[in-house]
Amino acid sequence: MSLIDKIDKEHLPRHVAIIMDGNGRWAKARGKERSYGHQEGVVSVRKAVEAATKIGLNYLTVYTFSTENWNRPEEEVIALMNLLVTAIHRETPDLMRNNVRLKAIGDLSRLPEQTNRTLQDCIRETSANTGVTLVLALSYSSRWEIVEAAKRLAAQVETKKIKVEDITEELFADQLTTRGIPDPDLLIRTGGEQRISNFLLWQLSYSELYFTDVFWPDFREDELYEAILSYQHRERRFGQTSEQLIL
Ligand code: IPE
Ligand code: IPE
Ligand code: MG
Repeated sequence: MSLIDKIDKEHLPRHVAIIMDGNGRWAKARGKERSYGHQEGVVSVRKAVEAATKIGLNYLTVYTFSTENWNRPEEEVIALMNLLVTAIHRETPDLMRNNVRLKAIGDLSRLPEQTNRTLQDCIRETSANTGVTLVLALSYSSRWEIVEAAKRLAAQVETKKIKVEDITEELFADQLTTRGIPDPDLLIRTGGEQRISNFLLWQLSYSELYFTDVFWPDFREDELYEAILSYQHRERRFGQTSEQLIL
């Protein structure tokens, strides 16, 4: 029985988030430049989107470039920003064919103009698609996002649009870049590290975590299905007891 057939389609995670890690190490192990790993990583994104489409996932978020990644050597940052342009151009027809809607979260104002323009064009072109929503986290970090949300709420209090007492978890979540997107049910990190690296700290509060040693360029549909199967064997208690869940 193939892995996809073992998945219970009635209990899919609505939202899977992935920290795509290990591109550089994957390339180095082959005696290649890190940028080669990033190029191959694009293939894995395509495969993950196709796999998500096949099983009918609603949301797939991929951590593509963190705020801290701006501190990498300039040539790697430039290569990544250029790769984004070529990858988005090349993949847009497939996104359309697969009915995928593209979104992006993060401080997009820091992206080079051409990268941001290409990204915005693809977001616009795919905006009416109704299949998987693919969210690229770009120039994203969770602390940046939370501070921005706090500033926005503070400004609304200052102008008396809201009162301090009006601030609830829902109102706070509405100020985040993920507004309207359900929290991830499952977080996958490839590449062997077991850390969050400033990703979706608010949104991951009750997500199931899945770590794999597979480097991102080797990630294929069965790796996604393995992670989902692991998720489906877990009991999510949200602070309650097992007995309460049965009632
Ligand atoms: C993840 O792979 C991609 C980005 C962070 C842009 P890395 O580039 O971090 O690869 P490793 O972790 O160094 O192997
Ligand atoms: C996390 O990977 C960011 C992305 C996958 C885009 P990093 O490689 O930047 O994370 P650290 O530095 O190992 O924590
Ligand atoms: Mg890394």
